[in-house]
Amino acid sequence: MTRNWLTIFRRRRRDSVPVNDLAPETLPRHVAIIMDGNGRWARSRGLPRPAGHHAGMGAMREVIRCSDDLGIQALTLYAFSTENWKRPRQEIQYLWHLVGEFFRTDMEELIERNVQVRFIGDTSKLPLQTQNFVRESIRLTAGNSGMIVQFALNYGSRAEIITAVRKLAEQVSDGVIKASEIDETVLSQLLETQGLPDPDLLIRTAGDVRISNFLLWQIAYAELYFTDLVWPEFTRTEYIRALQEYARRERRFGGLK
Ligand code: FPP
Repeated sequence: MTRNWLTIFRRRRRDSVPVNDLAPETLPRHVAIIMDGNGRWARSRGLPRPAGHHAGMGAMREVIRCSDDLGIQALTLYAFSTENWKRPRQEIQYLWHLVGEFFRTDMEELIERNVQVRFIGDTSKLPLQTQNFVRESIRLTAGNSGMIVQFALNYGSRAEIITAVRKLAEQVSDGVIKASEIDETVLSQLLETQGLPDPDLLIRTAGDVRISNFLLWQIAYAELYFTDLVWPEFTRTEYIRALQEYARRERRFGGLK
């Protein structure tokens, strides 16, 4: 894949920046989202599950655009967990197909927007074609200095923490670091999210009130926002509603007001 393939894609019309009352200083720096409910969205319309994932991709695109329009620094999207391999093969294949579709259709806009694309999770287990999209989107956006969009693909937080702990154990046995020198900063720097601020806001759609092995370390002090809306219904307006709710929260980080 070279820049040539980008030129064949139609330039997409950009939505205008939403009119809202969000002051920049009230915005989260990093938003993390568990995009749940695509299947239920499809079922409620008598459609097959892939139709729900396709609609979910549309919602994801709008949330990326809106985050960038607002000036949010980082957005992490849970697209495929280590547990999602338990799904039927066809559904999994469709999800990889969608990843390809998304990067084919949206890469030009992401580049125009100066977005840097990153991935967390073990992408080495994905189909080779998907790995190519992963590599190419990283390469094409590596020099971008705008918003960071992180896709969690084959991601599991416990696996991420175990990998970091193993590295630390090796460093201790190699004498690179003393066990007594291990602190939160040292461990954070070995996580896949290293270099990013921890999420300030975690959003989960579709009614379930759980974290599902997502960024367990990083969300220690995140504000949690749950909505019953299924992911394809999570529009720009709903996102702004979540950000407004976040702006009203009082964050104390364990201290006093
Ligand atoms: C959860 O809904 C959603 C997923 C497992 C997939 C998320 C994928 C997208 C939003 C599409 C595109 C992603 C990329 C990176 C292009 P569910 O299937 O668990 O819904 P259910 O709980 O109602 O069955």
